[in-house]
Amino acid sequence: MSDKKIFHPITTGGDTKLKNRLAMAPMTRNRAHNESNAPTELHQEYYSQRASAGLILSEGSQISQQGMGYIDTAGIHNEEQIEGWKKVLDKVHDNDGVMYCQLWHVGRVSHEYFQDGEAPVSSSAKNAGGQVFTPNGFEPTSTPRALETEEVREVVNDFRQAAANAVEAGFDGVQIHGANGYLVEQFLHDSINDRTDNYGGSIINRARFLFEVLDAVIEEVGAERTSLRLSPSNLMNTDNDSESKKLYEYVIRRLEEQYNLSFLELVEPLADLSEHPHLAENVIEYYGQFYSGKLMTNGNYDRESAIDMVESGKADMVSFARLFLANPDLPLRFKKDAPLNEPKTDTFYGGGAEGYTDYPFWKKPKISAE
Ligand SMILES: Cc1cc2nc3c(=O)[nH]c(=O)nc-3n(C[C@H](O)[C@H](O)[C@H](O)COP(=O)(O)O)c2cc1C
Repeated sequence: MSDKKIFHPITTGGDTKLKNRLAMAPMTRNRAHNESNAPTELHQEYYSQRASAGLILSEGSQISQQGMGYIDTAGIHNEEQIEGWKKVLDKVHDNDGVMYCQLWHVGRVSHEYFQDGEAPVSSSAKNAGGQVFTPNGFEPTSTPRALETEEVREVVNDFRQAAANAVEAGFDGVQIHGANGYLVEQFLHDSINDRTDNYGGSIINRARFLFEVLDAVIEEVGAERTSLRLSPSNLMNTDNDSESKKLYEYVIRRLEEQYNLSFLELVEPLADLSEHPHLAENVIEYYGQFYSGKLMTNGNYDRESAIDMVESGKADMVSFARLFLANPDLPLRFKKDAPLNEPKTDTFYGGGAEGYTDYPFWKKPKISAE
């Protein structure tokens, strides 16, 4: 079975060679239990256990205190965090791994607890209507305030600085988190963005923030080390866009024409779209037609469907979240068609080693000598 393309190396991002096309998807695990929200020894173990992935995408890492929305998420904006990530990257590289840092700004999906008692920021002053986990348990998201026009540039600059920090920490590249209803989507989607300046109104204006972030990050670390995650049919933390297909076609065509990203990751819809017929049901098939660069797909894949995607050429790489969380040696298990550990949902977020670094590696069954 290992003759399948998914197990073969691929070169992406200039000359970065990935040993296979199976990636570990970005996953928030809320285990940076310290004042600085810096990665710890536990993070070193967790990520280095998973270094057989062609590429590891880190947990969403806040680019600033303002970009934080959940308790104990690791960041990439202060010295302690950079030092913590350096140790993670040393271990991952010692194990022959390649790892990008996911750069995250939650925008309105936050609580004033994380913002020194102030309102979180967004494109507009609309409450996300969701819940975030704070030291007091689940609490409703705070109503944000709209960023002033001049402040948008500061946030763009925070992305730039975070990308520089990531490279300083030893990451092989970065991924801009443009998915799941966080700040980038809060600018893109007309269900949220009601601005009247250059960052609101037309599709071009609503996409301005994303492209300014891309330009700043690329200027800092190079396009070959920059990737982007989009979830065009997402309904998490957002009602998406009234002209979703038009919006994302514009974004992806522009990426095709003007950018030479390391890769673009597209997330398949994770919610029921029956009442949202204007959202693309099959994201990679619909938007893949506008993009000829390296494509990664994500969302509910298993061994067979992932192999098929890469064999058919519809995607170059497939990322796995829950299966990689539960199977540190997922590429080997897939290669051998070995049984998989089941992910335990109650230890996804928060806690310590349990459900984090204690998932067993596969042991080859012994053939009886009898
Ligand atoms: C515990 C957990 C944490 C997640 N955190 C992030 C995150 O930080 N950034 C992100 O883009 N997606 C995040 N996701 C979404 C996953 O990356 C992925 O899109 C989703 O789980 C579907 O992939 P899967 O079917 O392989 O699990 C998270 C998912 C899980 C289960």
